Amino acid sequence: MTRLGPLFKYFGSKWRGAKHYPAPEYQLIIGACAGGAAYEQHYANREVWLFDPDPEVAALWDYLIHADPAEIRALPCEGLTAGTDIRTLGLSPGGALLLKYWQRTGRSSCWTVSNIVTGENKWCKEHGRGPNAAGSTGMWHPTIRERTAVLIERIRHWKVFQAGYAEIPDVEATYFVDPPYQHQPGVYACWQMDYQHLGAWCKSRRGQVIVCEQEGADWLPFRPLYRVSGMRKMRKAQGVGAAKTQEMIWTNNMHELSMPELIDLLQGSDFEVISEAPATLVPDGAVLIWPSETPAQHGCEAILYQGTQSQCLLIMAAPDVVECLRAA
Ligand SMILES: C[S@@+](CC[C@H](N)C(=O)[O-])C[C@H]1O[C@@H](n2cnc3c(N)ncnc32)[C@H](O)[C@@H]1O
Repeated sequence: MTRLGPLFKYFGSKWRGAKHYPAPEYQLIIGACAGGAAYEQHYANREVWLFDPDPEVAALWDYLIHADPAEIRALPCEGLTAGTDIRTLGLSPGGALLLKYWQRTGRSSCWTVSNIVTGENKWCKEHGRGPNAAGSTGMWHPTIRERTAVLIERIRHWKVFQAGYAEIPDVEATYFVDPPYQHQPGVYACWQMDYQHLGAWCKSRRGQVIVCEQEGADWLPFRPLYRVSGMRKMRKAQGVGAAKTQEMIWTNNMHELSMPELIDLLQGSDFEVISEAPATLVPDGAVLIWPSETPAQHGCEAILYQGTQSQCLLIMAAPDVVECLRAA
C-alpha cells in the first residue's frame, strides 16, 4: 500500500477509510465512481482506470495525470486573498480546478479562495489570514503544492474516463465502487443512480468487487465495516452524540472475512448451520452471497446464503467451521 496524497480534497473521500477495505487482488483497479479516488491512490503503482461522469472530476484527474511538475510548482499560494475568483488568476483550466478543489472539502460549486483556517498554521500565521491577507488559501499550501508536484509522477500510467459505471467494459479486475450514498441524494453534481441496476451490475462484474455504502442502504446485503466521525456541520445539527456514521461494505469475495468477523456478522441473526450440505438445500429465492464453490473445496471456509423470503441465514460449512460457529 502506497499512501500518496490525497492529490485533492473531495467530499465523501475514502482517504481515511481506505485501509479498512480489502486489498486489491488484481493488477488492474477500476474506480467505478472515482471522485477523489482515495482507495486507488493507496495502490497507485497498480494499473488504475477511473470513471466518473462529473466533467470537473474527470478534467482534474486528466490534468494531474499529465501535468508538468513545473506548472504545479508555479501555481500560486502566496498572494492569494480570500474571496478572489480563482478563474480570474490566469491559470490553465486544470490548474484552476486543482486550486478550487483545495479550497473546500464539502461539495461546492464555489470558485473563490476560501478564508477557512486549516492545515499549515505556521505558514498561515506568517502570511496572515482573512480577507486581503496572503495566507488565505483554503487548504492549498506550499507543502501541498510541492507534494503534488512530486506525487503526480506516480500516476502517469493511470487512465481517466468521463463516463458512468454502466459504460465500463466488462473486464476482470478489482472494482472499487463508491457511489453517492443511497440515502444522501443530490450531494454530487452527477447523481443519476438506479440502485437496483447498480446492484445487479456489481454482481455481474468479473473479478473482485468492493462496494461502499452507509448504514440503511438496502440495494445489496451490506455489512458493517467501520465507523467514521461525521462532518462538523452535521455534528452540530445532530448533536455531539450523532458524531459517528457507520460505513458498510459489500464484496463478492467474502473470503475476506475472518472467522471472528463472520461470527460477529451473524450475531443476533436467525441462522442455521448445516454441515456439508449440498447446494440443492438452498431455499427458493435465496441470494448467493459467497462464491458458489462447495464447502469441501473450501476446507475451513463457510459459504453463506441469505434467504430473501424467509429472512433466515443458511450457513453451509465444513465441520470444523460448524464447531467454531456453534461455540461462538
Ligand atoms: C462518494 S463519491 C466517490 C468518492 C471517492 N471514492 C473518493 O475517495 O474520493 C461518489 C462519486 O460518484 C460519482 N458518480 C455519480 N453518478 C455516477 C455514475 N452514474 N457512475 C459513476 N460515478 C458516478 C460522483 O460524481 C462522485 O464523484
